[in-house]
Amino acid sequence: MSESVSAVAYLVASVCFIMALRGLSSPTSARMGNIYAITGMVIAVITTLALPGVVSFGTIIIGVLIGGAIGTVIARRIEMTALPQLVAAFHSLVGLAAVFVAAAAFYAPEAYGIGVSGEIPGGSLVEMSIGVAIGAITFTGSIIAFGKLQGIITGKPMVFTGQHLLNLVLGIVLVLLVVWFVAAQSAFIFWLIVLLALLLGVLIIVPIGGADMPVVISMLNSYSGWAAAGIGFTLANPLLIVVGALVGSSGAILSYIMCKGMNRSFFNVILGGFGGEAAGPSSDIQGDRTVKQGAADDAAFIMGQADSVIIIPGYGMAVAQAQHALREMVDLLKARDVKVRYAIHPVAGRMPGHMNVLLAEASVPYDEVLELDEINRDFAMTDVAFVIGANDITNPAAKTDKASPIYGMPVLNVEEAGTVLFVKRSLASGYAGVDNELFYRDNTMMLFGDAKKMCEGIVKALEVGGH
Ligand code: TAP
Repeated sequence: MSESVSAVAYLVASVCFIMALRGLSSPTSARMGNIYAITGMVIAVITTLALPGVVSFGTIIIGVLIGGAIGTVIARRIEMTALPQLVAAFHSLVGLAAVFVAAAAFYAPEAYGIGVSGEIPGGSLVEMSIGVAIGAITFTGSIIAFGKLQGIITGKPMVFTGQHLLNLVLGIVLVLLVVWFVAAQSAFIFWLIVLLALLLGVLIIVPIGGADMPVVISMLNSYSGWAAAGIGFTLANPLLIVVGALVGSSGAILSYIMCKGMNRSFFNVILGGFGGEAAGPSSDIQGDRTVKQGAADDAAFIMGQADSVIIIPGYGMAVAQAQHALREMVDLLKARDVKVRYAIHPVAGRMPGHMNVLLAEASVPYDEVLELDEINRDFAMTDVAFVIGANDITNPAAKTDKASPIYGMPVLNVEEAGTVLFVKRSLASGYAGVDNELFYRDNTMMLFGDAKKMCEGIVKALEVGGH
């Protein structure tokens, strides 16, 4: 393929990726966005394989077969709730790939058209060393994030005195090593950079608590994009530069949006020490306070009599896969002229858009699904808030308790509704490990049980109740 043809093909692929990002910004256009992304990737792969520099296909085909087989098995088996750690695991591979590409370019510069060993141009050395450093940080950082999300290592922030100072010093040493590497072109310094960056990746992520992991994942996503862009410069591949920059900037923007969703600053998140305390209500809140308990029949009666109901889905709905039963319940309520809407918190569940995806899967109409800002004022005028498998995102401690780790996070004002129904299995706390005093309020009724079973029970009761 001639250079001008490949340049045009790369341009078309880049436009497809930009259209993909645009499409993914709304549930209605997300499917189209994915189609653009697939098309862009097919064009990119075919164009790259047709470049004159590709001289043999044997290893490439074996790689595609092995990688494709592993990817297919994982994609079919993965639970939606485990997607964040899967994404973290994938990022670690992107980081590792960046390290390998940089090493290959350093040892065989002729193959990449960047001079000969010992006489690589300064610019290429800068790109190579920055790419390898970011890649190595991404690799170990993503492994730690994966371990925390998978529960292999504790989700609690691991903090020690002088941590930030140590990271700062290591960061400065890393920059000095890069400068030294560019001047000396030494393999020893190259691997010293790799080692130090691997260590820095671990040290940056360990102090960050479980509740901040989504931001971290998105930040690592951004790093992996910049690492890919760096490698794009080394390989003189414009598509890799464009795609790397797209991933890098969209990851950074997503991190920012999530920080805003939790009302935290980006630096506050990165400097760590938040979230992951012990689960379960602490004794001072539990005390001898009692909760009002109800069954599916009670919930069916209360909601059946209501004029308006707002549903607040959370992580527990995803675990129980309750979205279809929930939709059935809502259909029956709507048949009784109850106005039903869904309130979606920006960090409900375990990944951005988690609840939107599940509700879309159950064919819930998009116009019934509202964001926090759009619906938060309406709770005061609503008869029933039906909280299904959600906890942290309703916790008023975020508004009132300055000592709470979730203080400042915007929450859904469910307590302003006439009656609050909480579907969950126990009084246990949510992801951030913070007690929720709403369970003990007078206008709250706890519906203990699995979210799906509870919805099925309510459906039965509504059907028996008839019109
Ligand atoms: P959580 O605060 O984690 O609460 C979920 C609740 O669901 C738990 O208290 C649990 O109580 C209940 N539950 C679990 N399995 C259930 C089942 N089978 N049936 C019924 N209930 C079940 O979730 P949330 O309110 O959605 O808040 C999200 C939290 O995750 C926030 O702290 C957020 O910062 C964090 N986070 C968000 C993301 C993103 S980007 N969305 C990513 C990672 C972390 P029981 O054990 O009593 O049943």
